[in-house]
Amino acid sequence: MEMEIDWSNLGFGYYPTDYNVRCEFKDGKWGPVTVTDDVTINIHMAATCLHYGQEAFEGLKAFRGEDGKIRIFRMDENAKRFISSAEGIKMQPLPEELFKEMVVKLIKANERFVPPYGSGAALYIRPLEIGISPQVGVRPAREYMVVMFCCPVGPYFKSGFRPGRMCIMREYDRVAPKGTGRFKIGANYATSLYAGELALSKGYNAVLYLDPKDKKYLDECGPANFFAIKDGKYITPASDSILPSITNKSLQQLAEDLGLVVEKRRIAVEELTTVDEAAACGTAAVATPIAEIDDLDNNTTYVIAKDGKPGKYTTLLYNTLQDIQMGRRPDIHGWTTIVE
Ligand code: PLP
Ligand code: COI
Repeated sequence: MEMEIDWSNLGFGYYPTDYNVRCEFKDGKWGPVTVTDDVTINIHMAATCLHYGQEAFEGLKAFRGEDGKIRIFRMDENAKRFISSAEGIKMQPLPEELFKEMVVKLIKANERFVPPYGSGAALYIRPLEIGISPQVGVRPAREYMVVMFCCPVGPYFKSGFRPGRMCIMREYDRVAPKGTGRFKIGANYATSLYAGELALSKGYNAVLYLDPKDKKYLDECGPANFFAIKDGKYITPASDSILPSITNKSLQQLAEDLGLVVEKRRIAVEELTTVDEAAACGTAAVATPIAEIDDLDNNTTYVIAKDGKPGKYTTLLYNTLQDIQMGRRPDIHGWTTIVE
């Protein structure tokens, strides 16, 4: 079939591809990995994922490099976080090797959807796990299903690599102080939808959540972590209620490589008056500069990108990360896996 995908104008969203891969945990063990073109899942109406939210997911990307090779970014880190999320809601964790086998199989089966080098797009891989066996009492399932699908995607935020706007609203929490914020589970995103849609309707790109206990410190931006540049330092929140972002971890390393001091600590809202640059970082967001943050409860606007342009260090970090992902720069930290 002749395909005409406008690679350079893709947004971030669902896009049908040829195949998805699956694996089920039954009778105390993981079964074979299967490849299918069926986009539906047939499950029991009393499955725990439908009632008690036993669902976790991941998000990672593969890139077509300058040399034509496909590179998967930090797949082992996503595999480990998938295990941690599963354990956090009492699901059977998928072994790391099986995770990697499934990702590679998925990419190979959908190779024609890996965006060409230079298009600015990437192949986004979405693994998910659900509890599929029936349970009516509040207990974990005995059986689980892992499904992985992929979509070619462009930038997550409509602004792309242009500074966007975020807002702070103390009325809404994404997660509880000692809750599930560090896991990548559907429940956290369900609880973020109300405030997220409200922010969008007010013209913001996302909500910048504060710590759910004191509402004094920055936590994260809806679908991404937060970092700022201040006096030549890379600062990012230390918090138990945020997702440990693999992009953030990578950017911290790159910042150190560039000679910046990295501080992982609490960042009070008022400190925003003193930061030079700020950005939302994640697999989907990459490093999206933040132009301004409106504190809607205090009628305060923190203008960060005064000239409306991405900052020097955010640009440098973004480019360095993409250079590694596209194979333009030596992968000195061993972050990429080439699909053979
Ligand atoms: N925080 C949240 C809530 C997310 O959904 C994501 C996306 O995965 C991130 C942060 C960024 O994490 P990563 O860089 O591992 O994609
Ligand atoms: C990601 O960056 O991979 C995400 O999952 C963010 C969002 C689409 C949930």
